[in-house]
Amino acid sequence: MDLLLKDLSTTDRYKFLSAVVVPRPVAFVTSRNEAGLHNAAPFSFFNVFSEDPAIVVLGISTRPSGRIKDTVTNIRDTKKFVVNMVDRSIIGAMHIASAEIPSDESEIDYAGIDLVDCQVIDVKRIKQAPVSLECQLFQTIELSERRSLILGEVLAIHIDDAIMDLETKRLIPEKYSPIARLYGDYYAWLGDRYTKAIPTMEEIRTLGLRAGDIKE
Ligand SMILES: Cc1cc2nc3c(=O)[nH]c(=O)nc-3n(C[C@H](O)[C@H](O)[C@H](O)COP(=O)(O)O)c2cc1C
Repeated sequence: MDLLLKDLSTTDRYKFLSAVVVPRPVAFVTSRNEAGLHNAAPFSFFNVFSEDPAIVVLGISTRPSGRIKDTVTNIRDTKKFVVNMVDRSIIGAMHIASAEIPSDESEIDYAGIDLVDCQVIDVKRIKQAPVSLECQLFQTIELSERRSLILGEVLAIHIDDAIMDLETKRLIPEKYSPIARLYGDYYAWLGDRYTKAIPTMEEIRTLGLRAGDIKE
């Protein structure tokens, strides 16, 4: 099947693009409004794109009615947010928080999670999250009336000691299993792993390394 994006409806574009670019990690974002009420919502148009500056990006649409999501309003107003990574301990909370909860109510009350202070920003992180990234708004790019890209600069990271090898300072893969979003209502967990360093040109030219020699 060959598709031209100009021939696809917005709905079909979303369906194809979100189904082919998988898996996507999920940012469970906590933000706060100017009155201090905390909001939480998951976003899978999300990833990290740079380390200096340290930049994460969120792609957030408006609601079908055109209303701006609370996360966008809060980040616009306070310039701060937290990306909490999602493992098995908080998937239920992630799903509850994706519901259209009114702006004057907090998802936290429904989601059964606890908030704790961050190190450097005045927005709280989710206590049960294995990893939290404290972010300051770096730039907002309005792609269209319905879709904003929010670039956040990561100022601080919190990692649960239980998922770290404190000597090597590496995460222990068996203990850190963030959720992966597939398409529609489908999700997955990380499966088999393998290691392979980036080949050198010496290996390719002199030693004759070829694609077929590389096994997972
Ligand atoms: C796993 C998951 C991923 C989602 N990813 C996105 C996304 O990338 N962008 C988006 O606009 N909405 C996304 N949503 C929908 C929002 O979470 C939902 O609209 C939420 O109610 C927004 O809340 P807020 O108004 O409190 O910000 C996602 C929902 C789920 C369950």
